[in-house]
Amino acid sequence: MAFSGVSVIKFAYILGMLMAIANAEDIFLEWHVAIDTSIRPVFADQPVITINGMFPGPLINCSTDDMIHVNVFNKMDEPLLFTWNGIQQRLNSWQDGVSGTNCPIQPGTNWTYVFQTKDQIGSFFYFPSINFQKAGGGFGPIRINNRIAINVPFPKPEAEFDLLIGDWYQESYKEIRSKMKKMQWAYFSPPDWMLMNGKVSLMNPNTTEHESFTVTKGKTYRFRISNVGTAWSFNFRIQNHRMVLVETEGSYTNKIKLDSLDVHVGQSYSVLVTADKNPADYYIVASPKLSHADANSSIYGVAVLHYDNSTTPPIGIPPKGLDPFNLQLSIDQAKDIRWNLTTGAARPNPQGTFNVTNVTLSQTFILQGSSARIDRAPLYTVNNVSYLTPETPLKLADQFANGSGVYELDKFPVNASNIDAIRGVFVATGIHRGWIEIVLKNELEVIDSWHLDGFGFYTVGYGIGDWNPQLSSRYNLYDPVVRSTVQVYPRAWTSVYAYLDNPGMWNLRSQLLKNWHLGQELYVRVYDADPNPNKERPPPENLLLCGNFEPPPAPPTPSAPSPPTPSAPSPKDPSKGSATSQQVAW
Ligand SMILES: *[C@@H]1O[C@H](CO)[C@@H](O)[C@H](O)[C@H]1NC(C)=O
Ligand SMILES: *[C@@H]1O[C@H](CO)[C@@H](O)[C@H](O)[C@H]1NC(C)=O
Ligand SMILES: *[C@@H]1O[C@H](CO)[C@@H](O)[C@H](O)[C@H]1NC(C)=O
Ligand SMILES: *[C@@H]1O[C@H](CO)[C@@H](O)[C@H](O)[C@H]1NC(C)=O
Ligand SMILES: *[C@@H]1O[C@H](CO)[C@@H](O)[C@H](O)[C@H]1NC(C)=O
Ligand SMILES: *[C@@H]1O[C@H](CO)[C@@H](O)[C@H](O)[C@H]1NC(C)=O
Ligand SMILES: *[C@@H]1O[C@H](CO)[C@@H](O)[C@H](O)[C@H]1NC(C)=O
Ligand SMILES: *[C@@H]1O[C@H](CO)[C@@H](O)[C@H](O)[C@H]1NC(C)=O
Ligand SMILES: *[C@@H]1O[C@H](CO)[C@@H](O)[C@H](O)[C@H]1NC(C)=O
Ligand SMILES: *[C@@H]1O[C@H](CO)[C@@H](O)[C@H](O)[C@H]1NC(C)=O
Ligand SMILES: *[C@@H]1O[C@H](CO)[C@@H](O)[C@H](O)[C@H]1NC(C)=O
Repeated sequence: MAFSGVSVIKFAYILGMLMAIANAEDIFLEWHVAIDTSIRPVFADQPVITINGMFPGPLINCSTDDMIHVNVFNKMDEPLLFTWNGIQQRLNSWQDGVSGTNCPIQPGTNWTYVFQTKDQIGSFFYFPSINFQKAGGGFGPIRINNRIAINVPFPKPEAEFDLLIGDWYQESYKEIRSKMKKMQWAYFSPPDWMLMNGKVSLMNPNTTEHESFTVTKGKTYRFRISNVGTAWSFNFRIQNHRMVLVETEGSYTNKIKLDSLDVHVGQSYSVLVTADKNPADYYIVASPKLSHADANSSIYGVAVLHYDNSTTPPIGIPPKGLDPFNLQLSIDQAKDIRWNLTTGAARPNPQGTFNVTNVTLSQTFILQGSSARIDRAPLYTVNNVSYLTPETPLKLADQFANGSGVYELDKFPVNASNIDAIRGVFVATGIHRGWIEIVLKNELEVIDSWHLDGFGFYTVGYGIGDWNPQLSSRYNLYDPVVRSTVQVYPRAWTSVYAYLDNPGMWNLRSQLLKNWHLGQELYVRVYDADPNPNKERPPPENLLLCGNFEPPPAPPTPSAPSPPTPSAPSPKDPSKGSATSQQVAW
């Protein structure tokens, strides 16, 4: 979250900074990422991506401003990158871990991410960002706790539970990836299971282990729920229990009581649940939106809320939530999720001190998500452009060659559809320290979900049908919630505002995995001409090089292999891209 120059607030800000710096910690993690075929989450032999043997991966439990060091050992048989969904990587898109910012970590090698959870609190998750690997696992929860000095707008819960819910394919993610060349798979054939923390539904007669959370009567718990899936939005609820929504992706919301909550792909929420019913077991349900599936279906996630003295299984049938086809109800709920303006978040000053009530927009992007066949290949597009992933990360091209040979800035329209469907490296200028409005339109039949790296955005408007500028008079500019992932309903639009104070190369993508994999993304380049290193960070010392900047191969060594000689990168013929990358001392 950025900060305006109001001086009274600045004082609180500096005070907050001092408090924060005083006790920020370094957290060192070592992750061994491997394929495990023995987990069989849906009773089939299939590769599952594990971290230190775990599926889902381990929790990153940290606090505001901590430095996280994650040494990733790639023990899989293909290149790997992790991205940190919702972590803003302030001034440091070098650690964002998407194809436009980082060279992949090659099999048999390791690479250490180092990033700060600067000025953030809340619930997030990480996942592998390339090669369709998210459909194979590799995801896990991130909690950024408040600094001790900062008040949290609700009493400390008895315990916290991370609940990662997501759809899953019956087949290997590699199999599905290779099938993306076929229309049937690219455009239809959604995943057929819903997993809760990697486990199938309690209702499945074959299940031996379902997910269960043990609570004590009278206590209140915080559930941090994320949709880590690839395609399905779901409705979440707990039998006989109401939930109090308190947080989404790093923002405290006005507390609202809910019987059920829609969670779209890539989103995270915190809800408080008080165990105030008779000690028994109760169903926890995640059911797909826009689906007729019943509670016995494999695409219905069912787990258990277990009171510690209960001896009875859940009674009756899993409760029904919002009508899965009534999208107006879902929109109404989304509009009810508001920012709590008076509470502090990462800092003591109120969240609402920096707000959109009276901003002047510098730019408006109107981005339409759609699909197109190009040269017979089924693809997804933004404004009729399907993103073509270059061998060379955009960020490296910027650093060493001002982008040349890799992409052409502002080549494609950001406020209208290209006349023809084409493939291209879509990079648009975002004006540094300007306010941008991004109108996201969805031509598809499914609920889309968009994410912007590097920023939180203000979700100012939702509407059905086509968007036009007059509709902005109906926006909520008073207390829109700030988050990083927002849903866009079929044949509808969503509008967000963001303040582009974080220079870097930032991915703007559909969170739906097929759509992303097949081109529904672009990058927003926010450039700060000031070379002061206190602005954007220089590349890390362990920067990986690849594509056009791949270092020349080391001369063959007949004896024991020696590490590559450090050398300055030299530009190479861009046509000779290759998928390898090597570490070079900076
Ligand atoms: C997470 O960190 C907080 C603050 O250090 C600590 O109180 C809590 O017990 C930790 N939780 C887990 C699950 O490690
Ligand atoms: C790889 O891991 C070793 C420790 O095992 C560490 O010293 C080294 O810095 C790591 N390499 C990178 C590029 O992070
Ligand atoms: C349970 O497993 C059996 C044998 O593998 C299979 O035939 C059946 O379809 C499974 N049932 C469900 C509901 O998945
Ligand atoms: C907003 O936050 C304040 C300060 O923490 C809290 O007292 C208040 O209950 C919250 N308001 C709502 C509607 O949740
Ligand atoms: C689910 O299956 C059980 C047992 O087979 C059956 O009693 C129940 O009616 C089914 N529920 C639904 C919603 O179909
Ligand atoms: C639950 O059982 C434990 C002992 O097993 C007992 O100490 C506790 O009071 C019981 N709690 C309730 C709410 O009945
Ligand atoms: C929004 O910010 C302005 C300062 O830019 C401040 O005067 C106003 O009170 C804030 N609005 C809210 C609702 O906090
Ligand atoms: C809002 O903007 C207008 C024009 O840009 C300005 O005249 C007015 O003072 C602003 N109001 C606040 C509360 O900042
Ligand atoms: C770098 O590229 C930008 C945008 O394409 C251009 O405006 C600028 O002049 C270039 N700078 C240099 C040093 O070539
Ligand atoms: C798109 O932007 C161009 C240049 O700024 C402008 O002339 C045009 O009217 C805009 N089109 C739409 C649909 O907003
Ligand atoms: C996208 O491109 C196709 C041709 O490739 C064209 O028929 C279609 O009209 C374009 N869509 C828009 C919205 O311009």
